[in-house]
Amino acid sequence: MSGRILRGRVLTFHDEPAGPDDHQSYRYIEDGAVAVADGKIVAVGEWSEALTLAMPKAEVIDHRPHLIMPGFIDTHIHYPQMQVVGSYAKDLLEWLNTYTFIEEQRFADERHAARIAGLFFDELIRYGTTTAAAYCTVHPQSAEAFFTEAEKRNLRMIAGKVMMDRNAPPGLLDTAQSGYDESRRLLEKWDGRGRLHYAITPRFALTSTPEQLEMTQDLVREYPDAYVQTHVNESLGEVAFAKELFPNLPDYVGVYEHYGLLGPKTLLGHCIHMTEREIAVMYETGSVAVFCPTSNLFIGSGLFDRDRMRAGNARIGVATDIGGGTSYSMLKTLDEGYKVLQLKGQRLSPIESFYMMTLGNARALSLEHTIGVLEPGADADIVVLDARAVPHMALKMEQVETLSEELFLLQTCGDDRVVAQTYVAGEAAKGVSAW
Ligand code: GUN
Ligand code: ZN
Repeated sequence: MSGRILRGRVLTFHDEPAGPDDHQSYRYIEDGAVAVADGKIVAVGEWSEALTLAMPKAEVIDHRPHLIMPGFIDTHIHYPQMQVVGSYAKDLLEWLNTYTFIEEQRFADERHAARIAGLFFDELIRYGTTTAAAYCTVHPQSAEAFFTEAEKRNLRMIAGKVMMDRNAPPGLLDTAQSGYDESRRLLEKWDGRGRLHYAITPRFALTSTPEQLEMTQDLVREYPDAYVQTHVNESLGEVAFAKELFPNLPDYVGVYEHYGLLGPKTLLGHCIHMTEREIAVMYETGSVAVFCPTSNLFIGSGLFDRDRMRAGNARIGVATDIGGGTSYSMLKTLDEGYKVLQLKGQRLSPIESFYMMTLGNARALSLEHTIGVLEPGADADIVVLDARAVPHMALKMEQVETLSEELFLLQTCGDDRVVAQTYVAGEAAKGVSAW
């Protein structure tokens, strides 16, 4: 079998760390090797054992002394918002109405959508992200552009056309029927094709009529294995508006519960202003709460309560939420996540952070046997990290003694410069723009 063997310091998780010193939760190999062939990981072990692999023609890529990890996973991001990042607004609803709902109208033009999709994947790869759950716009052509480009690059991606039929400019509205028809057609075409997955994507309760939510429920019933992604309890103004629109339902999560949209493949962005009942419903349905720290701080939405969510046994993912979010980097995202939790008096250790951006997010997407781990049979989506890539980080590395300290430095000061390489299905992709 020909293939490739990556040599370096290998780190992969096999469980959620119980605490900062839970060394049982991960495997770390000081002089390790990851063998890949045909887009998959074939073997992981000591470098000295690599010679015993039946891969005589394998190309060896020596990444020492860098860290070799599973590619990062982003569980909530809006690809059409690349040019919305850094828009100045009072709060979420002003930000949406002033910038986002204007910008997204440009995706009616399929050439614009194709251009941004290419630049989007370049950016993810630059930052070491190999899988994302992405929102497109209301326009089916925006989803076509996204999936076409992802397929060209052989990326494992999740995405869906946004459904929205009220409270937005006419250029950004579908109808209950067209939203259903177009989503169904896109799902039939793209879900399960290559490494692609479809997410049924009602934007949020504020922009969908009860009729649209009913038809979304029909779609979810027809395709129970598809992802569902939406937003909930992000800002107080949004929560109040949801209450006005659905006065007879108990709360905001209750809207999605009522329309049968919750379940283990449902990703709910933000989940900041949650009642106890809502957390209990998240747990009962197995729905995932997605923590978006840079976005929540930038828009001023609030501070995610990770401990409370964990006490309720709710599943948690973590994400950039570009363009409310301000960085494509999962390292920066966890850096800001750490700060949010510090402000709440909650602890987030470096090994928990790196678990969250790899296996934790793979579990949030129910893809833990496929991505987020370096194990035989998993996809060969891999990131190589160099904690000395930046002069001031190299200086600090002189003092670093433990793996945890190195991870914390990568998280606190790292960005695209520390990503030495990103492998997509076993192929080096960073700096190799397919665009
Ligand atoms: N709620 C509904 N749509 C959006 C969006 O595009 N970004 C964020 N942050 N929240 C939303
Ligand atoms: Zn979002």
